[in-house]
Amino acid sequence: MEKYALSVAQEQAQEILIKAFPDIDINKLQVFYPPVEIEADLSIPLFGVAKELKQNPMKLAEEVANKSDCAGTLFSKITAEKGYVNFVFDREKINKQVFNDYLSFAEEYGVSEIGKDKTVVIDYSSPNIAKPFSIGHLRTTVLGQALCNIFRFAGYKVIAENHIGDWGTQFGKLIYAYKQWGNKEDIEASPIKALLELYVRFHKEAESTPEIENEARKWFKKLEEKDEEATKVWEWFKDVSLKEFERIYKILGVKFDDIIGESFYNDMLKGIVTEALDKKVAEWEEITPPEQLEENFPQKNKLVLIKLDNYGIRQPLLLQKSDGTSLYATRELAAIKHRMEKWNPERVIYVVGAEQKLHFQQCFKASELLGYNVKCVHIWFGLIRMADGKMSTREGRVIFLEDVLNEAIQRAKDIIAERDLTEQEKETVARIVGIGAIKYVDLSQDRVKDVVFDWNKMLSLDGDSAPYIQYVYTRVKSILRKADFDGATKLNLKPELLVEKEEVDIIKRISHFPEVINQALENYEPHRIANYLFDFAQSFNRLYANVSILKAETEELRNSRLALIDIVRYIIKRGLALLGIDSPEKM
Ligand code: ARG
Repeated sequence: MEKYALSVAQEQAQEILIKAFPDIDINKLQVFYPPVEIEADLSIPLFGVAKELKQNPMKLAEEVANKSDCAGTLFSKITAEKGYVNFVFDREKINKQVFNDYLSFAEEYGVSEIGKDKTVVIDYSSPNIAKPFSIGHLRTTVLGQALCNIFRFAGYKVIAENHIGDWGTQFGKLIYAYKQWGNKEDIEASPIKALLELYVRFHKEAESTPEIENEARKWFKKLEEKDEEATKVWEWFKDVSLKEFERIYKILGVKFDDIIGESFYNDMLKGIVTEALDKKVAEWEEITPPEQLEENFPQKNKLVLIKLDNYGIRQPLLLQKSDGTSLYATRELAAIKHRMEKWNPERVIYVVGAEQKLHFQQCFKASELLGYNVKCVHIWFGLIRMADGKMSTREGRVIFLEDVLNEAIQRAKDIIAERDLTEQEKETVARIVGIGAIKYVDLSQDRVKDVVFDWNKMLSLDGDSAPYIQYVYTRVKSILRKADFDGATKLNLKPELLVEKEEVDIIKRISHFPEVINQALENYEPHRIANYLFDFAQSFNRLYANVSILKAETEELRNSRLALIDIVRYIIKRGLALLGIDSPEKM
């Protein structure tokens, strides 16, 4: 695959320095891209090299800058500054190179082959059936989707997997509660709300009548033993829950390659426990059960666990309870093994909240001890908070995601109410803008930080928001429409004419696009793309305010500027699409 302008430049810069220091390892010559406001386009710090050569980095940089020349490269100038060697592009050459890149990759500009012949499994969203799809599951869904897009664009084969929580003792409680107090009609009418009510009721009743915990346990045991009645009710709960989730995924435009519930792994669990014991990774542990619960501990009061304190993890991983039942972690290990065998992935990426850090540390270590040959990474993230502080999942109040999504669409509708659009168009735009706003607020934040939901900011047309960027996109589209522009290839282009400072700025940003995608991928940080797009959109607005496009002095200049903003159009659309956000044609 051809190389992008910036990679070509990077290699040239390194080669220039290698000429000056033939004995230095090229990996020590790390190239940086200074912020666009700075004149230098590329920069290589010499501190490490200077140390190795026992020289002063400032002097060294001066010397190198003085004796190097730019012949045959994309640079016009090499300077030294405080121990850095700075490289400045020859505008004519870089403009041509960037335009060539765009013309040859066209609507794929920014793709790469980093992931060629590699598979990654991305485990994300993964809500629990019979429980609300809360705003807490929004982040994993949105982040996971963006990571899938980014990895795919970099050439990976991506398996998007939804590891639905459909197993565990809570289903014993639910079945009991349903048989006791539930009815079919309520559940059919509003499944998740009705099931949640049953769940809450169970816990309330259990406070005064703790015996029902035993009843629930019996039902779960029956479920584990594939009892017909228990299975039927559970399957029904699962069915109605998945239907609700489907509705939300449709609104969000989220798709999976595989939706596999935890229950899928049930038949593998005994095998995992035996394997862990045989390999001496796990051990039996005797316990003394509380008297009143004696009947639940038939397994000679022994449980199976994996001790991990030798690896800096104090809490052991519990693999099998003393009543013989499995746990979330047992199913996790089975899933790791299954994924390894089925996909032979280069990596499995878990997009799951920070509260499960310990769980994944334990499971990844256990998987390694079991000899499973698969790299696993936990990509965790902060919470979502409401700006008015009213609704917080931590306080136990549930915010139904669907309500939030509908509110976003409604608010977007109000904003565009007066626009010159048909009703049908308004409907479409409100969806794109409302859902875009929600995804963007989530993705523009460093994922380890909490996200604050502030409707006004999220939907603002002049702040760091999806609607702002989407609006810029429609503006670009409208210029292209006015000019009847239909593709740069047919025009006589002179990119070397684009030397106004706004043009230089935007071309430089265009050259960064493939690198930004790379960075987002390497660090699992979609916010790098979001932040880039916001700056990029602002950069376009400056160009739009100060440079005539349609009324450029000459035909050549006009064509070249149109081609430039066609690249802007592409970058915004592609960048937003990588984040899972659509771009409206008008708004
Ligand atoms: N269902 C879990 C929850 O909602 C998340 C599952 C994440 N994926 C996994 N492989 N553990 O908390």
